[in-house]
Amino acid sequence: MTYSIKFWAVVPAAGVGKRMNADRPKQYLQLNDKTVIEHTLMRLLNADVFTAVAVAISEEDPYWPELAIATHEKVITAAGGKERADSVLSALKAIRTLASDDDWVLVHDAARPCITAMDIIHLIETLKNDEVGGILALSSHDTLKSVQGNCIVDTLDRSHIWRALTPQMFRYGLLKTALEEAEGNPAITDEASALELKGLQPKIVEGRPDNIKITRPEDLALAQFYMEHQND
Ligand code: C5P
Repeated sequence: MTYSIKFWAVVPAAGVGKRMNADRPKQYLQLNDKTVIEHTLMRLLNADVFTAVAVAISEEDPYWPELAIATHEKVITAAGGKERADSVLSALKAIRTLASDDDWVLVHDAARPCITAMDIIHLIETLKNDEVGGILALSSHDTLKSVQGNCIVDTLDRSHIWRALTPQMFRYGLLKTALEEAEGNPAITDEASALELKGLQPKIVEGRPDNIKITRPEDLALAQFYMEHQND
């Protein structure tokens, strides 16, 4: 696929992943023949659309320098930050002299190793002429409850509720400004929320359910299952 505009991937990978209860951050756990982050980066690189992939890594991370992919010609390492949004902003700053404000940036969690080229191209093709950009998302099949303590206080109208996945695709300049303006705001748990804070309305693009985020120990087996059944 060739495009007249550049696409950059940004991968926040500076989290510790406490819910995995593992001896190392979840992105370095083994999944078949590679670590989680190697799968994620290989899939982004193999999609063959990105000028480079900027990866935000914690400064105390001893595992990253051990991976061959850390020195790949299209991989740029940036310092991770306190929160996910700080890590994304740091990676954006690392490509500041290379990217133009109008270039597209696709931010993708290191912990989502099952991302397919199909989903990446679907997102790009749907949004490439959009003013604001948007995200891959999934509708909810379950009935959703609003809860206080352990009591249900409301049942939400699930036709209006979507689960935000990654990649999240925005123009470089707009995303950087939105994250800078939102710095320190705990409500910013993804890129779209930083744009929403500016009064913008990012689009949702339906993604594939196999694009899971590794969060709990059982997710590794699920990711393995999905990988075995993906054929792209
Ligand atoms: O913890 P959670 O799964 O929500 O993190 C999503 C992604 O953000 C992960 O890839 C994680 O490594 C990254 N992250 C980061 N910097 C932080 C916290 C999380 O890059 N300070």
